[in-house]
Amino acid sequence: MISKTISSQTETSNLGNYQDIYNSFQWQEAEQHFTWNETGRVNMGYEAIDRHANSDKANKVALYYSDQIRNEEYTFQEMKDLSNKAGNVLKDIGVAKGDRVFIFMPRTPELYFLLLGTLKLGAIVGPLFEAFMEGAVKDRLEDSGAKVLVTNPELLGRVPVEELPDLEKVLVVGNEVKEDAKLIDFYERFDGASKSLDIEWVDREDGMILHYTSGSTGKPKGVLHVHNAMIQHYQTAKWVLDLRDDDVYWCTADPGWVTGTSYGIFAPWLVGASNVIRGGRFSPDDWYQTIEENKVTVWYSAPTAFRMLMGAGAKVIEKYNLSSLRHVLSVGEPLNPEVVRWGMEVMNLRIHDTWWMTETGAQLICNYPSMEIKPGSMGKPIPGVVAAIVDDQGNELPPNRMGNLAIKKGWPSMMRAIWNRPEKYQSYFLPGDWYVSGDSAYMDEDGYFWFQGRVDDVIMTAGERIGPFEVESKLVEHPAVAEAGVIGKPDPVRGEIIKAFISLRDGYELSAELEEDIRNFVKKGLAAHAAPREIEIKDSLPKTRSGKIMRRVLKAWELDLPTGDLSTMED
Ligand code: WTA
Repeated sequence: MISKTISSQTETSNLGNYQDIYNSFQWQEAEQHFTWNETGRVNMGYEAIDRHANSDKANKVALYYSDQIRNEEYTFQEMKDLSNKAGNVLKDIGVAKGDRVFIFMPRTPELYFLLLGTLKLGAIVGPLFEAFMEGAVKDRLEDSGAKVLVTNPELLGRVPVEELPDLEKVLVVGNEVKEDAKLIDFYERFDGASKSLDIEWVDREDGMILHYTSGSTGKPKGVLHVHNAMIQHYQTAKWVLDLRDDDVYWCTADPGWVTGTSYGIFAPWLVGASNVIRGGRFSPDDWYQTIEENKVTVWYSAPTAFRMLMGAGAKVIEKYNLSSLRHVLSVGEPLNPEVVRWGMEVMNLRIHDTWWMTETGAQLICNYPSMEIKPGSMGKPIPGVVAAIVDDQGNELPPNRMGNLAIKKGWPSMMRAIWNRPEKYQSYFLPGDWYVSGDSAYMDEDGYFWFQGRVDDVIMTAGERIGPFEVESKLVEHPAVAEAGVIGKPDPVRGEIIKAFISLRDGYELSAELEEDIRNFVKKGLAAHAAPREIEIKDSLPKTRSGKIMRRVLKAWELDLPTGDLSTMED
């Protein structure tokens, strides 16, 4: 049995007494750390890298990079020089303030030089998962009007260059690239590029990064963040990641996901920490080895990964020395008490759950080293943030009542727009300046928040947020599929898996081959992780009279739950 709370694991942490600081903290205090105090202008690329390169941290290692082949270290001075060079390459091909530059390549040091170089020019960066296939890449480049795409020769085949009129240049990071009017060879220019670059000083409200994410309806939406977010990245790096000067920090997330940028790039570097980046695919041996070899002290990962490590068993973990670890954190899905218990057993450390979203830009509700943990709870809001449970009208509910998890507007890293869709942006807010998360939760009498589920149909599979509509749209493009309804089905390791219910067009019959063909069709069109693991055929699907597929009915059927109100269902 695990006790209901786990007491704090440390006497000293960057966040002292939570309640005292919560009561008194003002965001202006965190603003003091940045350049805009003198100039009124700022730049994330400068604050994260150059500021340290110009200080006594110049020769401190900023990046420890490894994959199956490479094993490299870069100091802050080197990161400054290399991101300047990358910035010059981009500048030479016409990148300027406000342009959208998308990056679609594996996690290698070049990705980081190019991302930082883009920011130093005041351009807006859009990171894409390497797993995306042509349809997913096209949707995002088209919606954002991207001017430049950075990719490599292997992924170039998934970029429909001719179908994207706004796309002026494609920078290819690889050997022997054949240049033409659009294709540009990165290394050819990078080697000779100048190490000095004039930073484009921007307004704190200027666009910085565009992360596409899924909702329950419509195509993926572009969530726009601005340079001002750095205030919160910095402050949470201190309070939540608890980073100190001698830490070696590892965030396992890919930059295609907001965790891989806010906490894989910005937060650790804003506080001048040494940051570990591991390329390549997940394997338990590989991950434990990364901790051992780099002597990682602070580790940020996700429940799915912890559950996979748990599943790999004690024999694997025993081969490695994980004693360097001091602080471990999790994000992306509910952190099961069982996983917290596993962490206590194998690392003798608490795993600290953190809650936030692509739209929120940074952590909002967290567990802190200095605070008691209630396993299964997401913790309490960070100082400077007001969280509440509200009803659908925006009225606050008392403790222990389930409702919408909402945040009072005005935290520094809040999204500033949904690209090209102002009405979508407005739909996030309720009267009283509440940002509504789409999660349902309750708050207990001690002020701890407890996640209950999504209010909408968004699927969380292995930590990835998948919009059912996107998968359904792809499914019905397959010649055999008449209709499709997609739900998340609970799964012990992945949180949820994608299950598709489909009806077939006349003349088609289900076979193992057809099922595989449909699955591959989604994989090729969207991404491997968006393909349904399970497919079930129905003669017809439950629909409203207006023709909308009723996913909640499919879910109820699947889980043997009551179907609820069916008054809007067609006969
Ligand atoms: C879920 C960016 C439970 C939640 C980080 C949220 C969580 C969605 C937690 C955002 C957590 C995130 N406990 N659920 N600690 N953290 N979520 O934008 O449903 O890809 O709305 O994540 O993930 O997904 P996103």
